[in-house]
Amino acid sequence: MKRILILGGTTEARQLAGKLAVRPDVSLTLSLAGRTESPVAQGVPTRVGGFGGADGLAAYLRQNQIDLLIDATHPYAAQISANAAEAAHGAGVPIIALWRPGWEPAEGDRWTLVDGVTDAVTALGSAPRRVFLALGRQEVAAFEAAPQHHYLIRSVDPVEPRLAVPDATYLLARGPFREADEQALLRDHHIDVVVSKNSGGEATYGKIAAARALGIEVVMIRRPALPDVTSAETVEALAAMVNHFLGPAADRGV
Ligand SMILES: NC(=O)c1ccc[n+]([C@@H]2O[C@H](COP(=O)([O-])OP(=O)(O)OC[C@H]3O[C@@H](n4cnc5c(N)ncnc54)[C@H](OP(=O)(O)O)[C@@H]3O)[C@@H](O)[C@H]2O)c1
Repeated sequence: MKRILILGGTTEARQLAGKLAVRPDVSLTLSLAGRTESPVAQGVPTRVGGFGGADGLAAYLRQNQIDLLIDATHPYAAQISANAAEAAHGAGVPIIALWRPGWEPAEGDRWTLVDGVTDAVTALGSAPRRVFLALGRQEVAAFEAAPQHHYLIRSVDPVEPRLAVPDATYLLARGPFREADEQALLRDHHIDVVVSKNSGGEATYGKIAAARALGIEVVMIRRPALPDVTSAETVEALAAMVNHFLGPAADRGV
């Protein structure tokens, strides 16, 4: 029996966990940070909450005799990925990562690339604009530094406390989001700039395609640096790496 710990919080982590959980030779645990108040049911054994930094994660790997660590966290969750690489190294546990590829600009896109949320605030400029913030609720607080804009803020959980800006509208929604609906949203709210992470994947691409179609600028926050870990870009490719790790005899019934 091989013990696998998946660091999750993404659709891909859930899909990968579903694939691996059916193997009779795998004992699987999926780990969530616990940020979302009502996370999507994962359907596999799950633990919730931080480990206490890289040292805490290394201790968890040792105590639970983990044979393989899979980092399938969101590409912007740079802290846990750095911790995972350090902990795996410290505990002598193999690690592989699943990071979906970022979006590439297409013809007609009007992207302004910035390095972080603070730079995104600056990139909006001083004149008042109508801004769609499709960011996590942790990041939107930085936009209090530019209270002259109108904000449309969409999040899975309520943004609490509300932003200390005079003009903000809040939307609660969980993706996936269709391009046609995103176009309607941008139009209805007269949005003239979208602030987004380069998350990659289909589920949240609708707003990027919608912005392109409507000629709207996107302030795109570049991806953070991720550790140098062997990685795959798709669930299938990562599952193949796991099969390789487990060995051919274990492939039966998968
Ligand atoms: N950042 C995003 O844009 C984004 C988008 C969608 C989903 N997510 C998911 O949301 C979670 C939190 O993202 P974040 O950007 O706040 O992460 P982060 O800044 O990289 O991590 C902050 C701390 O949260 C804990 N943590 C993060 N992921 C964890 C996991 N899967 N299991 C257990 N503990 C975890 C760790 O605490 P300790 O140091 O105490 O271990 C970590 O040091 C991640 O799991 C990520 O996959 C993030």
